[in-house]
Amino acid sequence: MSLDRRSFLSVLGGATLTWPRTVEALAQQLAPGGAPTDEPFWGLVRAQFLIPPDRIYLNNGTLGPSPHIVVDAVTEHTRRVAMTYPPGVAWDDLKQSLSSLLGGDADGFVFPRNTTEAMNFVAHGIELAPGDEVLTTDHEHIGGLEPWRLVTTRQGLPLRVVALPVPALSPDELLEAVWSGVTDRTRVMCVSHLTFTTGTILPIRELADRCAERGIVLAVDGAHPPGMMRLDLGELGGDFYASSPHKWLLAPQGTGLLYISEGWRERLWPTLASGGWDDLSLGAQRFNHMGTMDESRLAGLLAACEFFLAIGMDRVEGRVRYLQGLLQDGLASISGVTLATPSDNNMRAAMISFQIEGVESSALQGHLSRTARIRTRVIGEYDYGWMRLSTHIYNGPDEIERVLELLSGVARSGIPARG
Ligand SMILES: Cc1ncc(COP(=O)(O)O)c(C=O)c1O
Repeated sequence: MSLDRRSFLSVLGGATLTWPRTVEALAQQLAPGGAPTDEPFWGLVRAQFLIPPDRIYLNNGTLGPSPHIVVDAVTEHTRRVAMTYPPGVAWDDLKQSLSSLLGGDADGFVFPRNTTEAMNFVAHGIELAPGDEVLTTDHEHIGGLEPWRLVTTRQGLPLRVVALPVPALSPDELLEAVWSGVTDRTRVMCVSHLTFTTGTILPIRELADRCAERGIVLAVDGAHPPGMMRLDLGELGGDFYASSPHKWLLAPQGTGLLYISEGWRERLWPTLASGGWDDLSLGAQRFNHMGTMDESRLAGLLAACEFFLAIGMDRVEGRVRYLQGLLQDGLASISGVTLATPSDNNMRAAMISFQIEGVESSALQGHLSRTARIRTRVIGEYDYGWMRLSTHIYNGPDEIERVLELLSGVARSGIPARG
């Protein structure tokens, strides 16, 4: 039995609530306003979160904190299972909501646990032949990269890695940097839509066009953009889009996404076989037959989609770009700071990476955490050593100001000795 959308988003009866009980109520509360600098509006949004007021969370790039409405949907689902009620997951509502939010058609959505699993489905499901090459960049996360390293190692095939410019100056520069690695043997290109290292947006549309012309399979690691910026998976192009809604879409942990383009729904080999894996009439939905799974996370994902639809991706993107811009401008004005994130608005959205001269980012991370309970991420991968800050809809300009104040102090006088 399927629950309807309202049932998912209602919370337990009887509890005293200070946040809207349903997405409809939330949408009503958030109807007016929402410009990037509309602090009363964004204050209402912040009130939907459980983040304690004395914490500044700037690590959404690793994991997004779910709002009440998502936590409640998960709890409600779990409770119904424990009560032996049919919990059901409104799969059609979920796929439809995702399609409304991210574009693409509802039938193309598959629900692995994360980007890592999604990309494994792709890498293990494509047949590579002797002589084929896989192309990637030196800014890929292990979750997107290692599945390709495994299959190429196993089959003795080359995995070519191109270097991306840092900071990138234009989308064209990035396009040509990636394309410089293409040879007559390139069979697959696997690149991030937005790099976890520097928050740089790659020109996926243009790459998709070129790949389509050359018959190259484009697998996009889209761990970050959904929930951060407007997206149309139908328009973007490319063959596969792997993502982690537990990041910017603020869904429960272990909630992944794989969007399979129409041409691959009957062609990709399943990695996990259960009933129906070879029923091609099921298209991409063959990949959703994974045995018993934690469907509470899907109830949470549906609530997260409805939450973002209620706010509206225009407003979300406007706000995150505004906050990121405050950080970027503030950092650029601090002497001793080197930015790894591009300054061009078309190549950045809500993450910024930088280094302070003479300061180890991990020491800076400890300092920010001890001094003001600020959560950050250090990009230790590839020895880059950048400090990365993510800004989402629950952050405010006061938090950015506080961070900039601390960073200015460190750039001026170093990290104070611990007493
Ligand atoms: C670009 C990118 N790809 C893949 C991943 C892996 O995500 P997950 O652990 O959800 O599979 C991450 C995680 O930070 C990431 O930033």
